[in-house]
Amino acid sequence: MQRIQTGIPGLDDMLHGGFPERKTILLAGGAGTGKSILSTQFLIYGAENGENGVYVTFNETPEEIIENTKAFGWSLEKLTETNKIIFVDALPRDEYRIIERGPYDLSGLLTRIETAIKKNNSKRVVLDSVTSLIMSLQRKEVVRRDLNTLCGRLKQLDCTAILISELPEGAIGVSRYGVEEFVVDGIILLFFREFEMVRRRLIEIRKLRGSDHTIGKFPMEITDNGIVVRPIA
Ligand SMILES: Nc1ncnc2c1ncn2[C@@H]1O[C@H](COP(=O)(O)OP(=O)(O)O)[C@@H](O)[C@H]1O
Ligand SMILES: [Mg+2]
Repeated sequence: MQRIQTGIPGLDDMLHGGFPERKTILLAGGAGTGKSILSTQFLIYGAENGENGVYVTFNETPEEIIENTKAFGWSLEKLTETNKIIFVDALPRDEYRIIERGPYDLSGLLTRIETAIKKNNSKRVVLDSVTSLIMSLQRKEVVRRDLNTLCGRLKQLDCTAILISELPEGAIGVSRYGVEEFVVDGIILLFFREFEMVRRRLIEIRKLRGSDHTIGKFPMEITDNGIVVRPIA
């Protein structure tokens, strides 16, 4: 089986080599847990190693994502200039765009994602976030069907995808709408918890169809070079 390496130190060990190819992974966590940074790192590692990517953004503008990750010294801006990473800007910005783009049925967005994937022959896709996508969908009763369509299409296009799930503080589940986890092949959870007055980041692989993986929560850090996971031997 082909493995899609995340390039995140420690995480590929936990994944026993990387994500199995063509899987969709839900990356769930509260605000500030590192979801966007981890996803950006996944795309950059791919783009620098011959696997281009598409970043679909609903919350921050592409410029903001570039700005927020500048401190890590990554080549994100350059990779976008050479189309190795293509942003699909899905922010609902003003009334004109709301009429044009959303609240959507999914098809308009899917077309834009597909166009981007075909343009640079992407193998990696990030959706930041699936929570916002669902929020923008008009017909909530078909959310599960729509998400299945999206994930199925990404697989057909030979892509491995991270779907970001935004959790409110103190959430019990792994998604806002309770359908996201049933549509994906894998679930990774990020935590930012207080232990004896000190906040620590943790990461856990909760589910991964078709692959063995390390079980349990492991320390994670956001360093000057990005995210590092420290699996305990
Ligand atoms: N250069 C940096 N060095 C260390 N930590 C950082 C750096 N930049 C951001 N962070 C941490 O990452 C968090 C934001 O990560 P992000 O991936 O945007 O979170 P989210 O899960 O909300 O997408 C910030 O709240 C901060 O704690
Ligand atoms: Mg984010």
